[in-house]
Amino acid sequence: MIKPRHFAELSDPDRRLIDSARGVSANAYAPYSGFAVGAAVRTKSGKIFTGANLENASYGLGMCAEVAAITAANSANGYDIEAIAVVGHKFTPPRDASQVVTPCGRCRQLIFEASQVAGVDVRVFSCSGDLAQIHEAAISELLPDAFGPQNLGLETVWPQIRAALIGSVAEWQEPAAPPADPVFVAK
Ligand code: THU
Repeated sequence: MIKPRHFAELSDPDRRLIDSARGVSANAYAPYSGFAVGAAVRTKSGKIFTGANLENASYGLGMCAEVAAITAANSANGYDIEAIAVVGHKFTPPRDASQVVTPCGRCRQLIFEASQVAGVDVRVFSCSGDLAQIHEAAISELLPDAFGPQNLGLETVWPQIRAALIGSVAEWQEPAAPPADPVFVAK
């Protein structure tokens, strides 16, 4: 069930998540649609990673803000996400910040993959640019009856696959392994 929420009634961490998404929408590269979107994911450890949409002259190559945020988290070893916020608005005339921005179908599938790997039914906050409307839903509600890593038995073997990856990296990068996390500035 999609739950309408008021910003003021949300917990501090959820407000911070939504604020992070709203703030990063200013970094959108969206000259073609004039529609700026910011997304922020929170990992189980409480770290927040953000992303903005990135368009391209070859229109079909555009990337959603959610992809950028999930990719940023993954690149910093933070794929275990528990919540995501999406905020967007049309910034070219006719400007409009009143519509709720929900993740597109592709993004729902990406969020679902992360949710099964994390073992958390990720909470999704879809927000209008003015934050007057916030819809909270679980990813299982936004993408019911989904196909995911559990269909392939991945959730049980992923820790071993990951351990093999880390072992392989350590072996090939001996003696000087790079830091596991890229540099980022936490808000
Ligand atoms: N967009 C997102 O980044 N996330 C969404 O959830 C909806 C749509 C972007 C894609 C494109 O750059 C612009 O918004 C208009 O569709």
